[in-house]
Amino acid sequence: MRVSLEQAIAKLKQGEVVAIPTETVYGLAADATNDTALKKIFAIKQRPADHPLIVHIGDISQVNDWVTVFPEVAIRLATAFWPGPLTLVLPAKNHVSRVVRGDEPTVALRVPNHPLALALLKQSGLSVAAPSANLFTQLSPTTAQHVEAGLGEAIPVLDGGACNVGIESTIVSVAANGQWQLLRPGMINQEAIANIANVGLANVTASDEAGGSIDIDASQTTPKVPGQHALHYSPRTPLRLFNDRVSLNQACKTFTEAHVTCAAMLIGNGDAPSCKAMTLPDQPDKVAEQLYSTLHSLDAMQVDCLLVELPPHTPGWIAVLDRLHRAGHQ
Ligand code: TXA
Ligand code: MG
Repeated sequence: MRVSLEQAIAKLKQGEVVAIPTETVYGLAADATNDTALKKIFAIKQRPADHPLIVHIGDISQVNDWVTVFPEVAIRLATAFWPGPLTLVLPAKNHVSRVVRGDEPTVALRVPNHPLALALLKQSGLSVAAPSANLFTQLSPTTAQHVEAGLGEAIPVLDGGACNVGIESTIVSVAANGQWQLLRPGMINQEAIANIANVGLANVTASDEAGGSIDIDASQTTPKVPGQHALHYSPRTPLRLFNDRVSLNQACKTFTEAHVTCAAMLIGNGDAPSCKAMTLPDQPDKVAEQLYSTLHSLDAMQVDCLLVELPPHTPGWIAVLDRLHRAGHQ
């Protein structure tokens, strides 16, 4: 059910949930101070209670309402990247709902860079907790239609068009002493974080500071954080990953001969497989923007298997590789 900005605000104030647009993915929002409302998010998503939620705030001045300390490193990161696809995990004040925190001593905060989300936060005066507006472990939504297809027509949706970043925010935790750690890769990459976070630290590179090494296989090296499941962001159709076009085309041929139907997601130029295929431009930001909508479209084709061409294992592709490895985990 589509709702206006005013209706969305009224529902949130009444303790209802509303799906809202952000620049990354659509979020399933509720008043971050209302435990009854927050529990509805977990029930609708079928999400385990120990998976903490991100609190979306209107601007940086609200951070101190939530945290016991806002370390200099975190202030620099927030100033550089907010509004934007960066979530900061910081030591939480005692009053912060344990439902939001998933019983962690920390709280995750972000100022989203979407005009409707910002209007909602500013006009309502609310802060809203919002995980991605999809069922637990399924593909994240980047359009209002995706939300309705995944959660049903009864969910109120504030339609803000297609998300232009397309994958979830980069998550960085910052301890009271300023030590920082990348918890989830996103389109603000580790090098960009390190460049801002490490200002003033002599002779420190991204690979030997607290953020750990820049490893190309993010799915193997991302630290364990609550709510980061190996099986995540998955289409319903089984998905197979291929490092190159030749092996993908060969698999397509073998499947087709065995009467197994397939469809492919390709990146950049190359020989086309014999099955239906969707081709994305060979650029990380373009692939991120279109990744989930492409997987949603391929999923809707109702074939037996999806064949996905992986981008190169280079730093610029880490966030996209992370999501594809999780989607492909069987
Ligand atoms: O781009 C995004 O971040 C989107 C949009 C809607 O803002 N939201 C999103 O939420 O991706 P979700 O619930 O799908 O992922 C939130 C993740 C959790 O799974 C967990 O890994 C991490 O944020 N998180 C939240 N609070 C945390 C905390 N206190 N400590 C560690 N990790 C936390
Ligand atoms: Mg999610």
